[in-house]
Amino acid sequence: MNHEPGRLAVLDLEPAKSDFLSETLAGLSRTPRTLPCKYFYDERGAALFQKICELPEYYVTRTETAILRLHAHEMAQCIGARCELIGLGTGAGTKTRILLEELEAPAVYIPIDISKEQLRQSTALFHQLFPQLKILPVCTDYLQPFDLPDPLRIPARRIVYFPGSTIGNFEPSEATEFLRRIVDLCGKDGGLLIGVDLQKDSDVLERAYNDSQGVTAQFNLNLLRRANRELDADFDLERWRHRAIYNSSVGRIEMHLISEIDQTVHVADREFHFRCGERIITEFSYKYTPEGFTALADGAGFDFARIWTDDARLFGVFYFTLKL
Ligand code: AVJ
Repeated sequence: MNHEPGRLAVLDLEPAKSDFLSETLAGLSRTPRTLPCKYFYDERGAALFQKICELPEYYVTRTETAILRLHAHEMAQCIGARCELIGLGTGAGTKTRILLEELEAPAVYIPIDISKEQLRQSTALFHQLFPQLKILPVCTDYLQPFDLPDPLRIPARRIVYFPGSTIGNFEPSEATEFLRRIVDLCGKDGGLLIGVDLQKDSDVLERAYNDSQGVTAQFNLNLLRRANRELDADFDLERWRHRAIYNSSVGRIEMHLISEIDQTVHVADREFHFRCGERIITEFSYKYTPEGFTALADGAGFDFARIWTDDARLFGVFYFTLKL
C-alpha cells in the first residue's frame, strides 16, 4: 500500500460484482429468502439513505448526532491524545467530523466504507476541514477480514469508531464474532466507540422504518433496481412492496420486500418463482437495551467504560476498552 501525496487516493478493495451475484443467488435460494443489506449502498442507495437520515420519523441519525454534539468532548477525553482512529462505515462523515473536532492531535484517521463515491467526497471534505490530519481511506466490505494501511506515525492507541447502529444489522452471535475481530484489531490499549439503537416502543420503531414519504420503501426497492442493473435481473419494481415490522420477541426491525403477485424473476441465468405475498428479507436492525449490549460486548472481550444517551433514551453511544 502506498501513500502518494495524491490526496484522494482511496485504497480500493470494493467488493466485486461477482460477490453481489453469488450472494444474491444464495440469498434467493434460501428459506426464507434474503438479500444482503450491505448492497443497499450504491450511489443512489447512499443518497436515499442520506434522505432517510433527514426524515422526521427516522430519529436514529438525528439523535446520535445530537449525543455527539453534546458529549464529543467527553468522548475525546476518554480516547486521549494521538489515537489512530478507524472509522467503520462512516458514510458522509457527519458524526466523525464532530468527534474529530474534539480529538486531541489524532495521529491518523482511517475511514473504511463500502461506498466509494461517498468515501472520496468525505475524504476531500475532511482534508479541507482538518488540513493537519493524515487520512488513509479504504474502500472495502469491512464485514470481511481486511488489512489496514500503515499509519507511518506511531499512534498512542487504536480506537475503532463504529457509528450509526450498523452493528444492529448483525444477528447477535455474528455481532459478537465481529466485535471479537475488533478486539484483535484494537490491540490491548485500544478502545471502541460504538453507536447502538436502543429498544423502544414498537410504534416509534415501525414509523421510523415505514416513513410517510416512502423514502425507506425506495431505499429497500433500490436493492432490486441495483440487481436489475448490475446482475442482469428483471425484477418488476411495480410488483414489489416495502414493509418493515418490529419483531419484539427478538428486538429487531425486519425489512421485507413483498411480492404482490405470483411471479417469476430472472437473475443472470437463474430463475426464481415467488408466490403472491412471499417475502424477501433484506435487513435486520437489532435494537438493544444498554445492559443487553454491554453483555454482548463483554462476551467479545470488551470492558464497559461509558454510555452517553439522549434524554428519551432512544439511542446509546458506548465506549469500551479491552478486558485485561
Ligand atoms: C444504517 C443500518 C443503521 O438499520 O436503521 C435505515 C439502515 N434501513 N432505514 C438502520 C436503515 C432502513 C440503518 N442502518
